[in-house]
Amino acid sequence: MSETGRHVSEAVASAAERRWGIVVALIIVALVAMMIFTGVHWASMPPSRVETIDPRTLHISGEFVESNLGTAVEADGKVVVRLVAQQYSFEPQCMVVPADTPVTFRGTSTDVIHGFVVGTTNANVMLIPGYVATFTATFRKTGEHLMPCHEYCGTGHAAMWARFRVVPQPEFMAKARKGERLTCVSR
Ligand code: CUA
Repeated sequence: MSETGRHVSEAVASAAERRWGIVVALIIVALVAMMIFTGVHWASMPPSRVETIDPRTLHISGEFVESNLGTAVEADGKVVVRLVAQQYSFEPQCMVVPADTPVTFRGTSTDVIHGFVVGTTNANVMLIPGYVATFTATFRKTGEHLMPCHEYCGTGHAAMWARFRVVPQPEFMAKARKGERLTCVSR
């Protein structure tokens, strides 16, 4: 290779390296900008409507006493499931909801962070002590699902699950007399 040839190929190589250097620098700048943006965004706009609850007294009085857990048709006609998670079970152990109906879940934990997912549906939430988690889901198909805890919560985590039954709407409404809490726990 002649002297000039080597100079040319060196120039080509360093130009290519500079281009890659610029691309990598732009990617780093973009990622750092995203981190700063999301950090500032979450810090300046905390999630709305945070509901807190005292995990030490929730079993004694208020919304999450044992007699108030399960599925109820509220005065306004809304179907609401109330549940409590604790190491290592859910209360109630078996939940029943009507199909094709928006169902609002309200849940919390008495001890550590738990969570649940209903079978392969998109009903999925974390239950954090001190906070009430709530979301609404509609189940199209009737049938029974497993509802496992999906946050590692201790040695009994793998054995922590409930059953979840979706029944036809008329069947549910026939059983749900006003104010009564429904579960599918066998008594
Ligand atoms: Cu509760 Cu894992």
